[in-house]
Amino acid sequence: MHNAHAPYSNFRVGAAILLTNGKVFRGCNVENASYGMTNCAERTAIFSAVAQLGPKIEIRAVAVTNDHGIACSPCGACRQVIYEFGPDAVIFFQGANGPRQAHITELLPEGFRLK
Ligand code: THU
Repeated sequence: MHNAHAPYSNFRVGAAILLTNGKVFRGCNVENASYGMTNCAERTAIFSAVAQLGPKIEIRAVAVTNDHGIACSPCGACRQVIYEFGPDAVIFFQGANGPRQAHITELLPEGFRLK
């Protein structure tokens, strides 16, 4: 979260992913003047893990936090990316009524898979 590049939204997000091999990778949101190019913290963490370890990573859990202390669950795009590498992952985030945990399929029913 502290490393976020968020000059446009001023909303800094941090994410940590726990892999089934026990390793943890962290990510932050990286915004761009062309707003749509922004990468969320969750995807930064996942892409960092793939870049370091390759595509066979398996995500066991994801945790998300932000510098406003407000409710913040992974966006739809990040849910689909989490599902790609963690179809059985548990997501920890700040919900509307406090800390929450949810299975990825609860956040993303009918996630897309090619195989
Ligand atoms: N953002 C994340 O990084 N993760 C989330 O789960 C929600 C939103 C970022 C994207 C953008 O940089 C900023 O928060 C405001 O939408």
